[in-house]
Amino acid sequence: MHSSIVDTDTIPIDVVAVVGAGTMGRGIAQVVARAGRAVALHDADPDALKAARDAIEATLAKGVELGKVTPREKTGTLERIRIETDLGEAVMDADLVIEAIPESLAAKKELFAELDAHCPTPTILASNTSSLSISALAEATARPERVLGLHFFNPVHLMRLVEIVVHPQTDDGVRDSLRELVRGLGKTPIVATDTPGFATSRLGLVLGLEAIRMVEEGVASAADIDTALELGYNHPMGPLQLTDLVGLDVRLSIADHLADTLDRHRFAAPDLLRRMVERGLLGRKSGEGFYRWRDGEAIAKDVPLSEEET
Ligand SMILES: NC(=O)c1ccc[n+]([C@@H]2O[C@H](COP(=O)([O-])OP(=O)(O)OC[C@H]3O[C@@H](n4cnc5c(N)ncnc54)[C@H](O)[C@@H]3O)[C@@H](O)[C@H]2O)c1
Repeated sequence: MHSSIVDTDTIPIDVVAVVGAGTMGRGIAQVVARAGRAVALHDADPDALKAARDAIEATLAKGVELGKVTPREKTGTLERIRIETDLGEAVMDADLVIEAIPESLAAKKELFAELDAHCPTPTILASNTSSLSISALAEATARPERVLGLHFFNPVHLMRLVEIVVHPQTDDGVRDSLRELVRGLGKTPIVATDTPGFATSRLGLVLGLEAIRMVEEGVASAADIDTALELGYNHPMGPLQLTDLVGLDVRLSIADHLADTLDRHRFAAPDLLRRMVERGLLGRKSGEGFYRWRDGEAIAKDVPLSEEET
């Protein structure tokens, strides 16, 4: 499972705990278990754990149907995922913990302090945060050199990138071990330093915010702006459809964080985005955002959003 280029200092990662079993955590648990590791999946909400287990099974079943996963791989993957309602039990034997709870610095810091208390000294603690400070999470523990970001993308089983985020104290061996792990998952790692939004969220957000401002100004419809980027620049998906997939609330909270920490002018959230979030138009998860969503399909809106939302 590991790549053949093994650094002699690489730390073996055989047992992984994933904390938070929502959109991202369940996907991470699936890809790590599929790559042959034992996974403990924990969530504070037992219903989320049940939903996660069902969703993983459904995704793997779809993979079998499409011929991308063998029935044996499906069974093996499910067998390697242990559902744990107790945090301590979930992480006690983990070589690596991947945190995937909501994007709140206070909640994540509290959890990292708890993880530090529960986990053996060598356990590596990683966060799937899209934008928050890894140094701040590291400071909540007594093992800052073993704390880093491990940023997966949605949907986890399809997206090929994982962004590793290092802060000044992250140990090089820990960074290299996670690079190795990511390659073993069949994905490509990049390494970014601990700056707000890292490499991916910062860049993706600039495009997304400008596209929203263009809708607001009536430059073109949401669907036409997306088509412009898809066909004119070969982007697999336009920035507004992507915003619908990520969640307008998630994009807004990242924009506000980058405006507070990097540049108030460049990352100012457009009024249209704020109003849509206030009205519960969150994208695919709420059924409507820059598109209407039916059975997972995006349907373009007839009325220009700039008129509809004001
Ligand atoms: N959704 C995306 O497209 C995406 C992409 C990349 C990164 N991220 C990041 O991944 C993280 C998770 O996002 P998500 O979309 O999966 O969120 P989500 O809301 O779908 O899932 C979060 C889960 O964490 C659980 N939880 C909350 N507090 C907890 C705690 N203290 N202990 C254990 N479980 C707890 C919740 O019950 C929920 O099931 C965030 O930091 C987000 O920024 C999200």
